[in-house]
Amino acid sequence: MKVGGVSYRSIWVEDDGWSVGIIDQTTLPHDFHRTRLTTLDEAADAIRGMKVRGAPLIGATAAYGICLAAREDASDDAIDRACDTLMATRPTAVNLRWAVDAMRRALQNLPRDERAAAAYARAAAICDEDVAINRAIGEHGLVLIEQVAREREGTVNVLTHCNAGWLATVDHGTALAPIYLAHDRGIDVHVWVDETRPRNQGALTAWELGQHGVRHTLIPDNAGGHLMQHGMVDLCITGTDRTTRIGDVCNKIGTYLKALAAKDNGVPFYVALPGPTLDWTVRNGLTDIPIEERSGDEVSHVRGMGPDGMPAHVNIVPAGTAVANHAFDVTPARLVTGLITERGICAATEKGLGDLYPEHAET
Ligand code: MRU
Repeated sequence: MKVGGVSYRSIWVEDDGWSVGIIDQTTLPHDFHRTRLTTLDEAADAIRGMKVRGAPLIGATAAYGICLAAREDASDDAIDRACDTLMATRPTAVNLRWAVDAMRRALQNLPRDERAAAAYARAAAICDEDVAINRAIGEHGLVLIEQVAREREGTVNVLTHCNAGWLATVDHGTALAPIYLAHDRGIDVHVWVDETRPRNQGALTAWELGQHGVRHTLIPDNAGGHLMQHGMVDLCITGTDRTTRIGDVCNKIGTYLKALAAKDNGVPFYVALPGPTLDWTVRNGLTDIPIEERSGDEVSHVRGMGPDGMPAHVNIVPAGTAVANHAFDVTPARLVTGLITERGICAATEKGLGDLYPEHAET
């Protein structure tokens, strides 16, 4: 996607042929800052500290983290240590495990001196696959927006939560991919952007949409239900960090409440996901998906830009207040109207997913 007219992916190999470029998402939306990862530890820190974030980008960064490790030491032990280090960074997005497993498989039977080159080739393929997958999600999801546009005059209003745009993937995004396509094809689309406390990923979504010229309005997290009650939302589209084989969806905290409000108001609630976000080993999302708990500082303090244009970090609670910061929640499949995948749209059911991914249905 473009920033100031220049095309970017969210992760790339630098001109030196080995170090890894990323956009530091902790300085957005105020400062577009690119930075370089040169070691496994820097890659792990970037994931943990959310310089990179979003399930598919976490997976892609982990893949390059293994490349950086293999450059220094491609022994079995070193690769195992790298995989363990990366797996310990964030627990919820299953793309991390998917990418680490894919890298392990690509390297395991190779002679040591061929492993680093093979790692870079596999990581690049993971990135290219993600881009192609998201383009296909965009095409399938576009049909839903076109349908609303055909049914009535005026703007199509889509509500989204968190950031499931190109910053969260390698390019295009998942939930935002259909919106970008709709805009590019001349549909009058407007996005209600949930602020998404406590990390305010809605600001990233607003920034992305603004760069692409898509009309949008940032709203407090509590506003969605009110907008739906007043007919101001045609459909919801969110991303997911892990979807179970029966269609339960784990996404950024607050997604569940939006799905409840959508159900109560007859608003279709769709979730966009790439195949690597499916966890075929899990059925019950509520009991079997690990939910990340992050620092209470993210709740008690707000980061932003002060009136002097400098970064600000402001405490908003009384000293000593107990805070909890569960980063994700699970939306049960019964609240999900449909899943938008790279292979088409399906019901959030074991059969719906099994028909699209028959190679996994029997496992
Ligand atoms: O904590 P984050 O910002 O990594 O959470 C991201 C989300 O919840 C996204 O909706 C999800 O990863 C899908 S990204 C295509």
